[in-house]
Amino acid sequence: MSEKLFSQQLLAWFDQHGRKNLPWQQPATPYRVWLSEVMLQQTQVSTVIPYFQRFVVRFPDIRSLAEASTDEVLQYWAGLGYYARGRNLHKAAVIMAQQHNAAIPENFDALLALPGIGRSTAGAIMALAFQHRYPILDGNVKRVLCRFTAEPDWPGQKNIETALWQLAESLLPERRINAYIQAQMDLGATVCTRSKPDCHCCPLQTNCLGRQTGKPEHYPVRKKK
Ligand code: ADE
Repeated sequence: MSEKLFSQQLLAWFDQHGRKNLPWQQPATPYRVWLSEVMLQQTQVSTVIPYFQRFVVRFPDIRSLAEASTDEVLQYWAGLGYYARGRNLHKAAVIMAQQHNAAIPENFDALLALPGIGRSTAGAIMALAFQHRYPILDGNVKRVLCRFTAEPDWPGQKNIETALWQLAESLLPERRINAYIQAQMDLGATVCTRSKPDCHCCPLQTNCLGRQTGKPEHYPVRKKK
């Protein structure tokens, strides 16, 4: 199938079924996108929402976050778990206050250099906050792509991961990059789920090789012992 069809089908589905009213989407400022992406790294949307809302009331911008003590930031983080994320968030705010004029840098390499921001989170911020064409490859997107291609190998393998990044890059649309990236996340979270994918509701079902095998839940395959 063509790369163009993949994004067209996903975007049409997003217009009907995608999530457009999450608290960090209105408005999707760079600060709110960054904060939400870090909170969502290991925690699901429904858990994150009330933490996000309390957090932005107390820390409405990078400056207020940078000036707070680490202890206070961690109090607002308490319950989300993975406290290294909260510590790194505060460290990154201090760096941005000092080196980036208290703004989220609109530059992939500068984002990647900040504590707590890896390749996928940097891509998500570039796309969702700045509308730049960058791919993401979080757990949800990895699963969607492994199924779509019926990837026979474990995606944690370095060469497979490299190939998946290349595939993710090749599928990016020319327009509506932010809607497309959000659509990928939403499809993985709501339709192309880990154990019971709802293929009949999937916009990609006609070209999905995982579905054609009759065992979509078999993908991504597990690590060989
Ligand atoms: N998981 C990571 N980022 C997300 C987002 N922006 N919306 C929903 N789930 C996500």
